Amino acid sequence: MTGHVFSSEPELIQGGMGVGISSWQLARSVAEAGENIGRPVLGVVSGIGLATTMVVRLRNGDSSTRRALEAFPVPEIAQGIIERYWLNTNRSSLSRTPLKPEILVNGSDERKAEFTRLLIAVNFAEVWLAKQGHSGPVGINYLEKVQLPRLPEIFGALLGGVDYVLMGAGIPNQVPGVLDGLADWKEVSYKIHVAGSEKYVLSFDPKAIIPQQYRMPLTRPKFLAIVSHHVLAQALALKATGEVDGFVVEGPIAGGHNAPARGKEFSESGEPVYTERDKPDLAKIRGLGKPFWLAGGYASPEKLREAKSMGAAGIQVGSAFALCDESRLRDDIKRELRRKSYSGVIEVMANPVISPSGYPFQVVRLEGSLSDPEVYGARKRKCRMGYLVEAYRTAKGGIGFRCPAEPVKAYVKKGGDVDSTQGRVCICTGLAAASADGQLRQAASEPPIVTLGQDHSFIRSMLPSADGSYSSEDVIRSILSIAPSGRSEGRATVSTAETGGRVPKSTTAE
Ligand SMILES: Cc1cc2nc3c(=O)[nH]c(=O)nc-3n(C[C@H](O)[C@H](O)[C@H](O)COP(=O)(O)O)c2cc1C
Repeated sequence: MTGHVFSSEPELIQGGMGVGISSWQLARSVAEAGENIGRPVLGVVSGIGLATTMVVRLRNGDSSTRRALEAFPVPEIAQGIIERYWLNTNRSSLSRTPLKPEILVNGSDERKAEFTRLLIAVNFAEVWLAKQGHSGPVGINYLEKVQLPRLPEIFGALLGGVDYVLMGAGIPNQVPGVLDGLADWKEVSYKIHVAGSEKYVLSFDPKAIIPQQYRMPLTRPKFLAIVSHHVLAQALALKATGEVDGFVVEGPIAGGHNAPARGKEFSESGEPVYTERDKPDLAKIRGLGKPFWLAGGYASPEKLREAKSMGAAGIQVGSAFALCDESRLRDDIKRELRRKSYSGVIEVMANPVISPSGYPFQVVRLEGSLSDPEVYGARKRKCRMGYLVEAYRTAKGGIGFRCPAEPVKAYVKKGGDVDSTQGRVCICTGLAAASADGQLRQAASEPPIVTLGQDHSFIRSMLPSADGSYSSEDVIRSILSIAPSGRSEGRATVSTAETGGRVPKSTTAE
């Protein structure tokens, strides 16, 4: 089958991984390695929960984050944030920290403005850091479900010069128009879903934040929608508010959230059962005339070839990058996951109810994490970050927010259905706790929740031994069938293509 050739598009996309797993260090190393090799590889930072992870970094005295903020176009805004958070461990001042996006609806004008400025600055800073020192492409990933901070966060990424915006977990039909408007410094709006099929409109005017003297021309980034099925790709291509520049077509074994199965059956272990009806028709996606990338178990040269033979521009890979040196997955967790994957004892299960988003979520079975029923049972339900909340109309006619993972009593009082609270985990806090920058309060550490895809066959072509390690460049070279660089000699980087499809055991002693 002849496929479209999109020579300027990256063959390989490092998937966005939240909260804080694909941070600037990973995205930068990926884009830089691609540039050095001479094959563009898209490095993607996660835009999810950045206000939280950045504040943690500033409190810990992270000089890179400070340097990035100092490059923010409006010095007064950056200075205000630095003064407030830099090395600040004062509890009472931090309890006022505006970290919950619902402030953007229900907060005072002052608090709204403060949080808006923080969102813009941290999204700018993450992209800015990822783009330093190379000219490879950098993208940012958001979840459509997390709607409240959408406009300021996208604007911050544009100010940082982001090349691609990627978005899944919902129907991102409003995003292309927002990108067009913001790139032209126009006021934009976003319809927020309110329970009962109502909408609430949030507006944002970039000119109200950035004074005239600091405004510069902005480039409209490309927009890639993450979809699981051709029907959504077709709808977005035809009816989105502007140009969708391509699609990441993600299957049900990919890490993180997945699209729900169309049927209502579950396997014996409780996982959703996907059937032929869930399979995307790639010919139909190809027919849309836009580049697309396949994701979910594609981390090998053979799978890259297979994707291209089906007309894809390339692939998006998450898990293999999540376990590499530059990812910001907590070190102890990363080591344990590498060990388990290498030894073939890792267990990942698609849990249909755990995420408050309502989407199935891949959970790694890991001692001490929220996958452990004892740890889950012992955790006090509390909504600390408020990203995956659902908006609802209050009795007084205002807009309230609830999350099925918050305390059951509070959720029901807000009109939520008690059945929806069963088995839910606070994914925002749990994911943040799995990242190296994620603990909101060191004193009261939260149990993490850990996600990976269900395919780990890549591990033995990248990891030299159960206790070894590998870099993002090793992942790229392995998948693109490029010989290991001198720098990574001694670590296993021999791709299966170079060994005729055979999985190399190891290049170093175990
Ligand atoms: C640790 C982890 C976190 C992820 N978080 C997100 C996310 O926040 N948003 C998103 O769109 N995809 C997320 N993904 C999916 C990846 O971007 C990518 O599409 C997927 O991992 C590809 O499948 P693979 O893991 O088999 O390579 C995540 C994946 C992993 C492994």
